[in-house]
Amino acid sequence: MRIVITGGAGFLGSRLARRLLERNTLTDACGVEREIHQILLLDVAPPTGAIGDPRIAYQTGDLADPATIERAFAAGADSVFHMAAVVSGQAEADFDVGMRINLDATRLLLERCRKLGRAPRLVFASSLAVFGGPLPDPVPDDAPLMPQASYGTQKAIGELLVYDMTRKGFIDGRSLRLPTVTVRPGTPNRAASSFASGIVREPLAGVDADCPVAPTTRMWVSSPRTVVDNLIIGHEAPASAFTHSRSVNVPGLCVGVGEMVEALREVAGDGVAKHVHWSYDAAIDRIVSTWPAGFAPSLGHALGMRGDDDFRSIIRAYIADDMPRN
Ligand SMILES: NC(=O)c1ccc[n+]([C@@H]2O[C@H](COP(=O)([O-])OP(=O)(O)OC[C@H]3O[C@@H](n4cnc5c(N)ncnc54)[C@H](O)[C@@H]3O)[C@@H](O)[C@H]2O)c1
Repeated sequence: MRIVITGGAGFLGSRLARRLLERNTLTDACGVEREIHQILLLDVAPPTGAIGDPRIAYQTGDLADPATIERAFAAGADSVFHMAAVVSGQAEADFDVGMRINLDATRLLLERCRKLGRAPRLVFASSLAVFGGPLPDPVPDDAPLMPQASYGTQKAIGELLVYDMTRKGFIDGRSLRLPTVTVRPGTPNRAASSFASGIVREPLAGVDADCPVAPTTRMWVSSPRTVVDNLIIGHEAPASAFTHSRSVNVPGLCVGVGEMVEALREVAGDGVAKHVHWSYDAAIDRIVSTWPAGFAPSLGHALGMRGDDDFRSIIRAYIADDMPRN
C-alpha cells in the first residue's frame, strides 16, 4: 500500500504519518486491509524532524506545480491524505496565494488521482470555516455551506469537487471538516485561530500571550491526537457509509475561550494562567466569530469518530506529547 500525504511536513500531516506507521495497515478502495509499504510526505517546506523509518519517503515541491504532482504519483497511490493548504489568516490576506494553493492545487491533485485508473481513497482536510452566516445551534450535518472568508470558500469548493469526482468514480473521497486543532506546538502561525494554541502554549513556557477575542467567544476544538484518529477513521469508513455527500462534520469539543483559560488555571495554576492578556483584535475576531462553535455531528459519531472529553485533557495531552522539556 502506497500513501501520499500532501502537506506531509506540516503539523497534522507529520503526526498522521507517525500514527499510520504505528498502525502499519490501511484499507484500500476495494475494502481490503493492506500493509503500508510507503508513505510519501510531499510538502513545499522541508521536513523539520526527519522520521527514521524506511517506509517514509520525502518530496519537497510546490503542489500547485503539475511537475511536482507528476513526480509524487509516478509510482501510483492507493490512498491520499490531502493536508496541504495555506491557513485562514494567510488565505484572507493574500487572495491569489489562497486560490492557487487551496483551490488550484486541489483540483490538479484530484485530476492526477483520476488518471491513476484505479480510484484511490482520498481524505481531504476541510474545515468548519465552510460554515457561516445564520445557523442553528448546534449545527446539523446538512447545514448549508455559507463561508464568510476566502479560506472557507476554497475548502467548500474543494469539498464539492471531492464529492463530484467520487460520484463519477474517479476517486473514493471523503472531506473531513476538522475542528480548530489545539494545542499546536512551536511558534504562532497565520491561522486566525492561532491564539487558541498560544493562550496555552506560551503561558506554559512562562511567556505572555495576547488573546484577541472575548472570553465569551466559543470554539469547536480538538486535540491533535484525537483529530489524527478521526482522519484515519474517516479514511477507513466504507463507501457505503455515505449517501448524498462525502463531507463529515468531525466531532469536537465546544468550549468558551474564557473556559480554556480557566482549564489552564486548573491544570497549571494561577502563575501560568496570569500570562494570558485579553487584547481585542477586530480583524481576528471578525473571522473567528463567523465560525459556528456547536455541532451535532451525527455522521461523524456514526462512523466512530469522537471528540475530546474536556479542555483540561487537551492541555494535558499537549504537556505529555509536545511541550518542550528544558
Ligand atoms: N490545524 C487546524 O486547526 C486545522 C483545522 C481545520 C482544517 N485544517 C486543515 O488541515 C490541514 C493541515 O493543517 P495543519 O494545521 O497541519 O497546517 P500546517 O500549515 O502545519 O500544514 C500544512 C502544510 O502544507 C504545506 N503547504 C503549503 N503550501 C504548499 C504547497 N504549495 N505545496 C506543498 N505543500 C504546501 C505547508 O508547508 C505545511 O507544511 C490543512 O489543509 C488545514 O487547512 C487544519
